[in-house]
Amino acid sequence: MTAQSVKITPFHDQKPGTSGLRKKTRDFMRPQYLEAFIQSIFNAIGGGHGKAFVIGGDGRFFNAEAIQTIVKIATANGATRLIIGQNGILSTPAASHLIRKYGTDGGFILSASHNPGGIDEDFGVKFNAANGGPAPEALTAKMFNETKALGSYEISDQPDIDLTRIGTTKIGAMQVEIVDPVSDYLALMEELFDFNAISALFAGGFRMCFDAMHAVTGPYAHAILEDRLGAPKGTVVNGIPKEDFGKGHPDPNPIWAKTLMDLMMSDNAPDLGAASDGDGDRNMIVGRGAYVTPSDSLAVLAANAHLAPAYTKGLAGIARSMPTSAASDRVAARLGIEHFETPTGWKFFGNLLDAGRVTICGEESAGTGSDHVREKDGLWAVLLWLNILAKRNLSVAQILTDHWATYGRDYYSRHDFEAIETSKADALVAELSDKLPTLPGQCFAGLTVTKADEFSYHDPVDGSVSTHQGLRVYFDGGGRAVFRLSGTGTEGATLRIYLEHYEPAEGDHSQDPQTALAPLRDAAYTLSRLTEHTGRSEPDVRT
Ligand code: G6P
Ligand code: ZN
Repeated sequence: MTAQSVKITPFHDQKPGTSGLRKKTRDFMRPQYLEAFIQSIFNAIGGGHGKAFVIGGDGRFFNAEAIQTIVKIATANGATRLIIGQNGILSTPAASHLIRKYGTDGGFILSASHNPGGIDEDFGVKFNAANGGPAPEALTAKMFNETKALGSYEISDQPDIDLTRIGTTKIGAMQVEIVDPVSDYLALMEELFDFNAISALFAGGFRMCFDAMHAVTGPYAHAILEDRLGAPKGTVVNGIPKEDFGKGHPDPNPIWAKTLMDLMMSDNAPDLGAASDGDGDRNMIVGRGAYVTPSDSLAVLAANAHLAPAYTKGLAGIARSMPTSAASDRVAARLGIEHFETPTGWKFFGNLLDAGRVTICGEESAGTGSDHVREKDGLWAVLLWLNILAKRNLSVAQILTDHWATYGRDYYSRHDFEAIETSKADALVAELSDKLPTLPGQCFAGLTVTKADEFSYHDPVDGSVSTHQGLRVYFDGGGRAVFRLSGTGTEGATLRIYLEHYEPAEGDHSQDPQTALAPLRDAAYTLSRLTEHTGRSEPDVRT
């Protein structure tokens, strides 16, 4: 086995986005493309010499090939220990846990999250740091600089490793451990939750449908829900990871998980429906006839977390991304703990979690998690819901109704306008941003603006400031509309309009959210001159 240095011409399109480098799979398969990006990561972290890394991915097309390449580059860069999920499988939260548990110097996660997979779809590479969380912005900027100046990469000519067999082997001085992707994660979940109570729930006839969407959570859900907690076989559907996710779009929301939604709204609905995304960090929760918005899910989990062993001593604080509804703020206020509003993107929770300021975090984009790892965690959310259901002996719908009767209801919906011409979307945002100071006092479609601003975040831990994080307009009567351009789209621009209206505890909580939010929608569309700018008046997606 020898290592060689291969000269290359640098690539100029390897700027990591919100969540690592995401490209069409064929781009990653181009000669030297993956190699160049991986070498740039090693360069950005000060080399691989003497270091340990976790490697795994969501099983999409090109996952195993990419792992073989990373192993050869890691060998040539002097890494001394690699921990790799069997068959190349690791969910994002499980990888985060392994990095923390084994104290490695970071990890490579191969995934494009909820984007479709396949040779003509998407692939991605994320690097997580030693705290288990996504590389912070300073590090991704360093990686990008490295990619632009890279002259060569180091690679070893060793044969491919056997990813199928659990056990430890040596490649020269480097130790390679192929580990069961589930067992350490299962052990962590056993520490956090009351597995006896959840097992008793299933033994008592509680029925659930978990849709793994042909993605990475299949093996985890089979092992935890069916084998360990005793849920009947068949509880987990689409539970074998496929390279192309069964040609589906592994995003757990009412649109892409429509089959599950239809089941949960039918006469034959089980007690709980849940789904997770490509790499297992997102979740959807739906009760019989009752969809739980991610914002409400965060609030309910925070309000009831004390029912799970890991959180009996209470929460340090709660954080949510700015466009997420204020429902969790109300819980924090009642608990007498701090709450934080951060920009969109899980990485902004990292400092608060590391500093012990918050225990639970969540985003409207279907992510919830806690300080047990440094990523959002789909199955964690499902297990916390199960723990709460087991302890409270109420249905999901009853828990929601009870929550609203206590805290009031934050009616919430996100309207997405996809693949807008970038110049048109930019013009809408620029015009709205310019006129923010003039909006208070003006009336649009019958609603008067009370306040309008652009969100900037001042990180209370490291003092850093992130500007241009979304436009916020508040209305008389307690409504809010937020305007933001997506940071994850691949085609043109996606405009997101987030609508929220608060109905106090004694108010009417039984309306359809779209009906309850119609006046706010009209005001938001009118004041942003949505149709004039984009020609659109109907969203492509409503969450
Ligand atoms: C990724 C990140 C999330 C974030 C989401 C926002 O999934 O992991 O933390 O909330 O992107 O996406 P957007 O398209 O709204 O920028
Ligand atoms: Zn994901």
